[in-house]
Formats: sequence, structure tokens, C-alpha cells
Amino acid sequence: MSVLRLGYVHINVTNLAEARNHYRDTLGMDSVHEEHGTVYLKSWDEADHHSVVLHEGGVGLVKLGYKVSDDESLAQIEIRAQSFGARVERMSKGENACVGDGIRVTLPSEHVMELYSEIDYLGTATGLLNPDPWPRQGVRGIGVPRLDHTLITAEDPELLERFFEEVLDFKAAERLVAGPDYSELVGSWMFCGEQPHDIAFVKGQNGKLHHFAYHMPDWSALLRAGDVMSMNDVPIDFGPARHGITRGETIYFFDPSGNRNEVFSGGYRTGKDWRTITWTMDQAARGINYTHREIDQEFLSVVT
Ligand SMILES: [Fe+2]
Repeated sequence: MSVLRLGYVHINVTNLAEARNHYRDTLGMDSVHEEHGTVYLKSWDEADHHSVVLHEGGVGLVKLGYKVSDDESLAQIEIRAQSFGARVERMSKGENACVGDGIRVTLPSEHVMELYSEIDYLGTATGLLNPDPWPRQGVRGIGVPRLDHTLITAEDPELLERFFEEVLDFKAAERLVAGPDYSELVGSWMFCGEQPHDIAFVKGQNGKLHHFAYHMPDWSALLRAGDVMSMNDVPIDFGPARHGITRGETIYFFDPSGNRNEVFSGGYRTGKDWRTITWTMDQAARGINYTHREIDQEFLSVVT
């Protein structure tokens, strides 16, 4: 599998100063670069130049970046995406600050996905030589260590799942199905490495973002993240709770512009020999929120 991971999430925010406070001071990311009303941030345990890009001018997703292992894989993906019928264009070094050449694909769900293999290397806060387990100078706020996954909405989840399988070699860890014979795909949680998911999508409006998530090391770090959210009056959507789907632990919350974030811990290990798990629609509430077995209507309807 040549796609390595979710590399960056580029979003619009209504107010850059408020957004900077949220992502830098409350979540604890570092601001590494700023130009033309755009802020680039990275988390302490990430080595690449940035993982979140904030652009002032509205709300919602601009594009997703997924990192690919090498240029040969990029060329292969380009051919496969074209024969799938997706719109593909070349992306040049410098079109995104500190990111190299790559390709820009418009997904069947109308989301823009950039694939690249080169990005400036800044290194983690603890380095590569006899590293400490966490930055000894401390972390700000929650101190998120890294980006984890994203969840988007699509009018035709089946088509999008086929794109991820055939073009990008992703595999479904779990699927949510509906209909009298369970043939209708409502959601798919897909991975490229060994995580429970690197991207997920549920049926909904094309081009929208449901949330993007940060990895947390464990449940107690997640609970502490909730404390920091409360200290900073961050609006919480739901959690702390357990997911049925992915078996992860979660808190969903909103940035000041209304983009939904998540902190996510736990989950299981997947891999090439993974056998897909199925959830039926009658158990969807348990799948999303295993602890409380109910889903708030806002959780289903609010996307940006
Ligand atoms: Fe998530």
C-alpha cells in the first residue's frame, strides 16, 4: 500500500485570530508558517512541516492532503484515478507552502484530495537521538501529538468506497449498511496502513467535512483533553464516550468557526488481511456512541 497517511487538513475559518487561539493554545499545535491570511500548524509528535492549514474566509473544508511513499506510486495513482474517471491535475512544488510536486484529485464526492510524497521535514519536538517520551519543555493546552483521520460526507458512499479501493488501495475496516437486504452502504471506515481508519465517509451532502481527528495516547489523556476544553469554554458535541465502530474512544467538539474536531484514542490494529466488520442501521446509534446508544440530531446534521 503506497498511501501512508492523512498528511494535512486545509480548512476555512471565519476569524484567523480566534482559530489560531483554538488550534495553537487550546489544542497545543505549533504555528510554523504564516502567509497571505493562512496559518500552517504542526503537532509536537509530527515530523512533517504541517498537518493543519487555516485560511480565513468562511468555514469548512478546502482540501485534504494524503502522503504517498514515492513518486512512482504517485504516477500509478494518477493513471488509476484517470481511468476511474476522476478529475486529476498535476500539482507543482510550492503551490502549498513547503509541499513538493504531486497530484490533485477531485473525488467522486467532489472533495479535493492532494497526494504528494515530498514535504519539508521539521522533525518532532523530541527528536531522533535518545528522545524523551514527551517534550520536556511541556505542551500547551491539550498537547495533541498528531493528526489521525478525517470523516467526510458523500452522496454516493458506494462509489467513493470503490474509488478508495481501486485507486488508492484502501480497505474498509467497517461498513454501516441499510435497506431490506442490507445492500445500501451508509458509511465506510477505511484504512491504508494498520489504523482502524485513515478516512471515513457517511451518506450526506457532497464536498462536506464532518470532522477531522487527532490521535490521543489513551483514555486518561482523552479525559484530560475534555478538562482543557471545559477550561477554555470549547463547545463539546458529545463525549467522552466509546465508539462501537473502530472501538475508539472519543470527544467531538467545535472550533470557533464551527468546524468539528475530534480527539480519538484506542481502537484496534488492521492490516492487509483484515476482514471487514458490518454494522446494520438498526444498531447505528451503538456503532457511533457505544456508551450512550443514542445519537444527537446535531451530530448527524451539522457539517461544514
Ligand atoms: Fe472520527
